[in-house]
Amino acid sequence: MHNEAAMNFKKKITCIGAGYVGGPTMAVIAQKCPHHKVTVVDINKKRIDEWNSPNYELPIYEPGLVEVVREARDRNLFFSTDIPAAIQEADIIFISVNTPTKTYGEGAGKASNLEFVEKTARSIVEHATSNKIVVEKSTLPIRTAEAIERILKTNEKGLRFQILSNPEFLAEGTAISDLHNPDRVLIGSHDTPEGLSALQELVDLYAHWVPRERILTTNIWSSELSKLTANAFLAQRVTSINSIAALCERTEADVEEVARAIGTDSRIGSKFLKASVGFGGSCFKKDLLNLTYLCDYYGLHDVARYWESVVELNEWNQRKFVNTMLHSMLNTLSDKKIAVFGFAFKANTGDTRETPANIVVRELLGEHARVAIYDPKAIPNAKIDLADLLADPQVAPRITFCSSAEEAADQADAIALVTEWDQFKTLDYKKIYASMRKPACIFDGRNILNRKELFEIGFSVFGIGKPPLSHF
Ligand code: NAD
Ligand code: UGA
Repeated sequence: MHNEAAMNFKKKITCIGAGYVGGPTMAVIAQKCPHHKVTVVDINKKRIDEWNSPNYELPIYEPGLVEVVREARDRNLFFSTDIPAAIQEADIIFISVNTPTKTYGEGAGKASNLEFVEKTARSIVEHATSNKIVVEKSTLPIRTAEAIERILKTNEKGLRFQILSNPEFLAEGTAISDLHNPDRVLIGSHDTPEGLSALQELVDLYAHWVPRERILTTNIWSSELSKLTANAFLAQRVTSINSIAALCERTEADVEEVARAIGTDSRIGSKFLKASVGFGGSCFKKDLLNLTYLCDYYGLHDVARYWESVVELNEWNQRKFVNTMLHSMLNTLSDKKIAVFGFAFKANTGDTRETPANIVVRELLGEHARVAIYDPKAIPNAKIDLADLLADPQVAPRITFCSSAEEAADQADAIALVTEWDQFKTLDYKKIYASMRKPACIFDGRNILNRKELFEIGFSVFGIGKPPLSHF
């Protein structure tokens, strides 16, 4: 497929784990460093086949990703299931496997499940035949590097491995621009000559496109902890504004005005203050729970409860959205049809992990409503997430998946907008209103719609942290 022998690659980089992080991150490294060979491996053959798809039908949707893969694939970017070969040839190995919340045994429901990381470390020991730099790219509990090192040291071939922490801060939906233009790249190492020399190699790699002053270097434990801390602060910020939104809903204050007012204080800043149906995504909840577990582990129980409350309040906020619907629709949703606009956890991704839509749909079905779901990218994942309900003959007839927003809204009593896809802003709401049952309501879980216009069309309009515009 590729004429590798003819190419004289300077370095060989392998990434274990071809998911939302491994795929885009390595695609950008390959794009920016054409003289290095980058191989991304995974145990999931289907995923690798999709990364290699001749029509570029990649396993994840991410704006700009196809273009990068098109540029680099088969030039210096390769996707493979041959993990031993990729380990053997690598100078640098990134570990980018999943680290989900543990569901069994000690720490179940909170601690990170490190089984995939450990297996990866073991396969590095098994297949390596030369010294390597091993980079933690996955998000890991503090002091995981110690555990990985312990495994790597079991090699009986006299090999030396240097471990670095290089957490990833990309957000889904903007992964490629985040990777092209990161606020910072963080690299942690041991303060030994070997550790610092490995650190320099990774700094040099990123310096191909990231300004040197944005490459931060720290000790390895600070780097591991900074990743969990960043996600905890971001999640806490969303929860903070959502908690104020709840108060706005009771007091006729407008949360967007409050966000603007506080966001202009340079100490607070204006980003990440969008009130919403709640935060979702594969990492905020998982990383908060992991932080909680770590605090408890180190005896800091009060600190643990502080961070745990962020998770609890977010779940309350997601349920609150459906409670508002129930109370605004004459206290019964039974047999009412609700058009659910969006299922992804945020716009511009097909990812539905921990999406608020899952909770919203389940709560609606719990109230015996009928749901018609439309999302431009997330329907395949939505079907997987709702598989248990689709298999239940009592519930399945009340769920439909639609190929347009208009189809979902046809004969509906209400629209629940859960994901802030741009296309929802420009729909023909006059036409949609005409096709719905009356009184027709819109619940805008993202505050992206023109409330006044919708109210004038005839909708009763409910936002997050906004005074309702109701016709009854
Ligand atoms: P993912 O589930 O999309 O991908 C992980 C991949 O690793 C899967 O394809 C899986 O098959 C593969 N894998 C698991 N065990 C393996 C093994 N032993 N050998 C080879 N492959 C193996 O996960 P993700 O979203 O890419 O997240 C990966 C890590 O990055 C997590 O720790 C996560 O917290 C962190 N992270 C994620 C994001 C994000 O936006 N998704 C952002 C920053 C950091
Ligand atoms: C988040 C972080 O932003 C990344 O820096 C981090 O790398 C990543 O987690 C990770 O570790 O996985 P991501 O979850 O992809 O990225 O997306 P965000 O943009 O952070 O959004 C998370 C959730 O919060 C979404 O449901 C989003 O809709 C919600 N959100 C975000 C709000 O409700 N309001 C806001 O103002 C911002």
